Amino acid sequence: MRLALIGYGNVGKAFARLIESKRSQYPFRIVAIRTARHGAAFDQRGLPIQPAFDTNWDAHIPIEEFLDRARPEIVIELTTLNPATGEPALSHIRAAFARGLHVVTANKGPIAHAYASLREQARLAGAEFRFESTVMDGAPIFNMVRNNLPAVQVQGFTGVLNSTTKVVIDAMRNGMTMEEGIAKAQEMGIAEADASFDIDGWDSAAKTAALANVLCDAGVTPLDVDRRGIGRLTHEKIAALKESRKTVALVSRAKRTAQGLKLRVRAEVLDETDILAAVRGTSNLLLLHTDLMGTVGTVAISPGVEQTAYGVFSDVVDIARAL
Ligand SMILES: NC(=O)c1ccc[n+]([C@@H]2O[C@H](COP(=O)([O-])OP(=O)(O)OC[C@H]3O[C@@H](n4cnc5c(N)ncnc54)[C@H](OP(=O)(O)O)[C@@H]3O)[C@@H](O)[C@H]2O)c1
Repeated sequence: MRLALIGYGNVGKAFARLIESKRSQYPFRIVAIRTARHGAAFDQRGLPIQPAFDTNWDAHIPIEEFLDRARPEIVIELTTLNPATGEPALSHIRAAFARGLHVVTANKGPIAHAYASLREQARLAGAEFRFESTVMDGAPIFNMVRNNLPAVQVQGFTGVLNSTTKVVIDAMRNGMTMEEGIAKAQEMGIAEADASFDIDGWDSAAKTAALANVLCDAGVTPLDVDRRGIGRLTHEKIAALKESRKTVALVSRAKRTAQGLKLRVRAEVLDETDILAAVRGTSNLLLLHTDLMGTVGTVAISPGVEQTAYGVFSDVVDIARAL
């Protein structure tokens, strides 16, 4: 399979390493890479992990020109997240579908903002669309539901999906201030450059909208999620909760009601033994509430960029099998 990567940062490079390590079993090759500031690279025989980029190919050259020169079968969209609009990933994905190309992305922006219309565009183009790494760093959710839970209706979900707030709350339980906790998360490389995106619950709201759009056909954006972050938590409040063997986690919930699907992100007080509190550090957890399978879930223990890359890889394999 010929792959074109748009975006070659942490995830793109980890994905290229993974492709290299599995080449004997999975004959995928990266035939083109486009970046914002480093230019682009092309080779139909397959690019090395550190290709020579042609810097004349800057981000002003239309994506259509890149795709036409690259001639891939699958476009892998791995550009920076814009939580407010889903761009530029949204336009990149639309340009790929307009050419009948299959798309894999780890960028949750397009799924949180425009999933239904992208799914329809893919259907009309006869193209496949996969996005496993958008919510839990590659741990199976979307492909698990698609491939292993036939006829199941997802009626709601509960998740602890944002690593930064978990690290910050853990740090506050150990006597640090919120600012020190944020600095720790930034040192670990897991916080967004603007950490308020995590602390104010926008990252969780985007993940909640993405899950609701795909699993519950909700047609929402992050703005439709009733959202409150952890910004008002104080060291004193956390210490008092710890005394009574309780803690706090930023919880995403979706629940079907007579009025429709209710979506919420809140800092919730939990018993230390609650399953939502039990996954520590950067680990995360999602429970799906279903009609036929009761509640089933996915846990990812300390996922990193290699797992995000694996989610992208699993999507490529899933598409290759479907063709
Ligand atoms: N890192 C993770 O663990 C993780 C986990 C789950 C999901 N994700 C998602 O995966 C995506 C990639 O993450 P990352 O950590 O690899 O990001 P990153 O290291 O910041 O890399 C982003 C890449 O996108 C390129 N880019 C930005 N705008 C572009 C444009 N208009 N056209 C072409 N290329 C463009 C950048 O080019 P330059 O190199 O020239 O700057 C860079 O190569 C993001 O959407 C992120 O939310 C990441």
